Amino acid sequence: MNQLNTSNALLEILDLKVGIKREERVINILDGVSFSIKEGESLGIVGESGSGKSTMGLSVLRLTPHSTHPHTSGQILFKGRDILAMDDTELQKLRGKEISMILQDPMTSLNPVFRIGDQVAEAIESIGSLSDKDKADRVINALERVQIPAPETRVDAWPHQLSGGMKQRVVGAIALASQPKLLIADEPTTALDVTIQAQYLQLLKDLQQEFNMALMFITHDFGVVARMCDRVCVMYAGQIVETASVHTIFDQPAHWYTEALIGGVPSLDGKLDKLVSIPGAPPKLGETTQGCRFSARCPNSKDKCQIREPDVMHISDTHEVKCWYPRE
Ligand SMILES: Nc1ncnc2c1ncn2[C@@H]1O[C@H](COP(=O)(O)OP(=O)(O)OP(=O)(O)O)[C@@H](O)[C@H]1O
Ligand SMILES: [Mg+2]
Repeated sequence: MNQLNTSNALLEILDLKVGIKREERVINILDGVSFSIKEGESLGIVGESGSGKSTMGLSVLRLTPHSTHPHTSGQILFKGRDILAMDDTELQKLRGKEISMILQDPMTSLNPVFRIGDQVAEAIESIGSLSDKDKADRVINALERVQIPAPETRVDAWPHQLSGGMKQRVVGAIALASQPKLLIADEPTTALDVTIQAQYLQLLKDLQQEFNMALMFITHDFGVVARMCDRVCVMYAGQIVETASVHTIFDQPAHWYTEALIGGVPSLDGKLDKLVSIPGAPPKLGETTQGCRFSARCPNSKDKCQIREPDVMHISDTHEVKCWYPRE
């Protein structure tokens, strides 16, 4: 999956492998992942639990655990520069400035012992020095932008005084303070109530468009992908098995796994099912598999699938699938 949309790519990931060592053996959590994101584009990363989505997002900021670093290879090109080859100074210039990340649980991003306003101010300060008055104004602006009511009083609040939805908005304000070119959002709404989820997603989408910011949106929910993304990569057991536009994914999924995930929902107009459960389980991390990793669960599995790992097939310029016998 490496030849698509590489022109004017903001982020281009080439053959990324991220492994851990277990009993003298290296086990790849990500096993040869390639994709790209263009400026202003919203790309969904979808897959079941354990498929490697979070590892993917963390890799882009080199935030995977240290134990994985000796077993990381490939390239992560941001504006053509390889993040994996950057020194600490370059990384610091990138993190939270050109690339920001929002995680599932806002409390892992907010510091419980600092007031909201101070945490937003810190993010704003990191971009450049400002007078106190300018800084205070920008903090209020940043909170207004993520639609926090009465920001003048909220600046003095402690994180624990805010609801989950409000906390996640503050995280959003911090992430967006530097107007990053790329925002990585890893299941940003799973900790929120359903109605709050919808509002937060709309807000993210609006801000993404306003700032022409690229978005890497990690989720297991295809309904959310349909709302938020232009294109999608479907992950299975540490690999990307299908890449296509959101329309194509819903109308003509080529991989049997993708089809199962969207539960046969044919179009974007219909009501979208959440991730349905597929009989069987993905191979366990480190389990040796032969052939296609999905073959044990695939309704269309044939002899070849059990023996040889599929090549990537180019269905069109914008559609790739890793399958020997894709859906027609
Ligand atoms: N530091 C680590 N050490 C050992 N195993 C790890 C480590 N980080 C991730 N893994 C394993 O790698 C696999 C992928 O994990 P990852 O968190 O990236 O998946 P995910 O797709 O984000 O899952 P979820 O939907 O549950 O968040 C899992 O089997 C996980 O247990
Ligand atoms: Mg995850």
